[in-house]
Amino acid sequence: MEEAKHIRVYSGCAHPQLSQQIAEYLGIELGRVHITHFPDGEIFVQFEENVRRADVFLIQPTCNPPNDNIMELLIMIDAARRASAARITAVLPYFGYARQDRKDRPRVPITAKLVANLLTVAGADRVLTVDLHAQQIQGFFDIPVDHLYARPVMVPYLKSLIGDNGVVVAPDSGSAKMAMVYGDMLEAGLAVVTKRRINATTVASSHLVGDVKDRICVITDDLTSTAGTLCAAAKILKANGATRIYAAVSHCLLNDVGKAKLLATPEIEQLVTTDAVPVPDTLDGKIKVIGIAPLLGEAIRRIHDGKSISSLFYIDKH
Ligand code: R5P
Repeated sequence: MEEAKHIRVYSGCAHPQLSQQIAEYLGIELGRVHITHFPDGEIFVQFEENVRRADVFLIQPTCNPPNDNIMELLIMIDAARRASAARITAVLPYFGYARQDRKDRPRVPITAKLVANLLTVAGADRVLTVDLHAQQIQGFFDIPVDHLYARPVMVPYLKSLIGDNGVVVAPDSGSAKMAMVYGDMLEAGLAVVTKRRINATTVASSHLVGDVKDRICVITDDLTSTAGTLCAAAKILKANGATRIYAAVSHCLLNDVGKAKLLATPEIEQLVTTDAVPVPDTLDGKIKVIGIAPLLGEAIRRIHDGKSISSLFYIDKH
């Protein structure tokens, strides 16, 4: 690999606002790239400036529509590689298709691995992402993965909500580790709800492990889509005496069904999230969005400068 000289940051079409904020954080202009569709729907990409020997960062959360956003990112990587970029980092503030990360039934795919393969074969040299659905997905890549966490940007606001009477709640067993770390950072208790998924849009929460009576709860998860997981957990918490309930997810992928369900669930006072994916509707304050551009911008700066990013895993108390 040639030594990378200058930094260049480009945005795909998934979340230009976030890319713009990252570029502002870095004190540079977003790079010029032309992205359009042919009449048959195929994607065309052309970098409109020289990227030879550049350290290229391509920003694209693979949120809805995931197939278009992934394909666009792959084509951008291919174009940058063929234009002799020295190093290409795929920046996925949200890594989609990650929930299919194991073969838990016969004849099903592992899409998280498939997407990892696609990014690598297209020519990505590194990946920068935030709150993968499961940490182990890092191992699906044989290129370096820098994995950031949204919690350092979420915790100060969450602490202002729960004070010293908080319990962090995992809404299913898969999110228990995340809840534990949030619990440590928030100096709060821990509870776990068991979940059974009936189908893609319906979940049932059945048991609560932990004490939430007269406590303020924060349900933490990597993402929400139909809000089924959060709302089912909230109902159990209320039934067990929680006084106030908030939810915090890194990636807010709410569809119309999810928005309606969230609005129809008064047990959840507010859903706190980041702008790692676009959140066009805050539902009159029911959703609180916290900006993640400084975290991503700082990580990009450090990757470019060859510096450690591990201090970004903690809260800056200064
Ligand atoms: C599942 O393992 C994830 O961490 C989320 O809990 C889940 O995908 C949320 O989906 P929904 O909002 O549709 O219940």
